[in-house]
Amino acid sequence: MTHDLSIRASDARELMDDPHADIGMLERTYERFRVVNALVSAPGRLYRRDIRPRARRGPLRILDIGAGGGDVSRMVAAKLRRDGLSAEITALDADERAIRWAAERDGGAGVRYRCAFAEELVAEGEKFDVVFSNHVLHHLTPSELQGLLQDSARLVGADGVVVHRDIARSRAAYALYGAATWLFASTLLRGSFIREDGMISIRRSYTPRELAEVAPPGWAVRFGLPSRLELRRNGDTAP
Ligand SMILES: C[S@@+](CC[C@H](N)C(=O)[O-])C[C@H]1O[C@@H](n2cnc3c(N)ncnc32)[C@H](O)[C@@H]1O
Repeated sequence: MTHDLSIRASDARELMDDPHADIGMLERTYERFRVVNALVSAPGRLYRRDIRPRARRGPLRILDIGAGGGDVSRMVAAKLRRDGLSAEITALDADERAIRWAAERDGGAGVRYRCAFAEELVAEGEKFDVVFSNHVLHHLTPSELQGLLQDSARLVGADGVVVHRDIARSRAAYALYGAATWLFASTLLRGSFIREDGMISIRRSYTPRELAEVAPPGWAVRFGLPSRLELRRNGDTAP
């Protein structure tokens, strides 16, 4: 089946977002996010540019919104520990299936796992130095997206930064992801939603221009390789 990648497929739904999704498939998907994120999400770039320089100035509070299996939070915790730095990291997800799975696999990383929406943390008056998300924006409806941007701007402290990281939709990304995951469909990715949901996610994701059009003032869009988007905001910009 061919899809028109020139239009955002906002009505498509990832299988993992189904509350009745097969739990075995879902948990294998959380497990495989670690491989996918290591290959495409460049967590090291987020760490080197936005986290490590701040951590060198003192202990940090970091919030990972829509943390899923929690692997990006645990990767950040491992990098901080390797560099002799410290941070309190909260992995937040609205889906209790994800939080339960992630919390059981912390493996000594020391990440805090919490099932909640970001707005609950806003109501509690929480503040963080670095607020980030990975592969969450494209899951959201237009009003959920605006809510997430408003909440994350309120959750960041004056010298902090918000970085929402996601896929940039393109024909090339769709074709490459399709080919790469086809090779591993019957081995590494078997019994997970990684291949199917990844293809849907690329169709649902934004182009840099589309994201810039829906972002409120104060947010900046950056494009990066391979087919990555960042929506950024400094903490000293009034929400
Ligand atoms: C594709 S997963 C990405 C997980 C992880 N960030 C990663 O990069 O592997 C998207 C996650 O966002 C969560 N999510 C979606 N909307 C959310 C919201 N409004 N607040 C918190 N989490 C949300 C989902 O439950 C899901 O676990």
